[in-house]
Amino acid sequence: MSGRFITFEGGEGTGKSTQVKLLAEYLKANGIDVVLTKEPGGTPIGQELRAMLCTGDKDKFDAVAEALLYYADRRIHMQQKVLPALAKGSWVISDRFADSTMAYQYYGYNKRVPKQMLEELYKMTVGDFYPDLTVILDIDPEIGLARSIAQNSTYVVQETRHESREMEFHHNLRAGFLEIAKTADRYAVIDANKTIESLHDEIVKLVRERLL
Ligand code: TMP
Repeated sequence: MSGRFITFEGGEGTGKSTQVKLLAEYLKANGIDVVLTKEPGGTPIGQELRAMLCTGDKDKFDAVAEALLYYADRRIHMQQKVLPALAKGSWVISDRFADSTMAYQYYGYNKRVPKQMLEELYKMTVGDFYPDLTVILDIDPEIGLARSIAQNSTYVVQETRHESREMEFHHNLRAGFLEIAKTADRYAVIDANKTIESLHDEIVKLVRERLL
């Protein structure tokens, strides 16, 4: 028996984390066993990698080093959490997965990292395995960043390493996610500039149509 794997993607401040929680609650209320997780940081070692990746100076290491660290986190996450949960028949919802690496480390940085390197890393660390559904929450970066920075100011540890990048990075990132969405049927792009409730309703409709 194998569960379903749903990933959520998007730029900063799309409301992704709220929506993954609401979807998990909805599925649980409908009798489905759900594991809610995230990248980076879905495992204890991943939490250490997350602190390295998401705090501090934006230029403390380059996009190639970033991609390697995100893939280290992903490998551990797959082995220790995602695959065991799917094997038990649970559904796994991940707040970000490999499309974030392609969007941030390739498109975000204006394609300076070889795309082939990221594709090879995927094959080596994840293999021939893909999410059943990937929801891309799309928002104008000006709106998303304002939301994200406002949220971060209330946290003790400020995870603003990516938020502090220039606007061009965030526009490239958004365009990147839209490009990625064209490459397979598993993607669904949703306009995230809505109320929490209407966005949730749209996501539930999508999951029901595609997976239930
Ligand atoms: P979050 O915003 O979902 O908490 O994710 C943490 C940050 O890590 C966010 O700025 C996006 C970034 N990120 C990448 O740059 N590449 C990746 O592969 C992943 C998973 C996240």
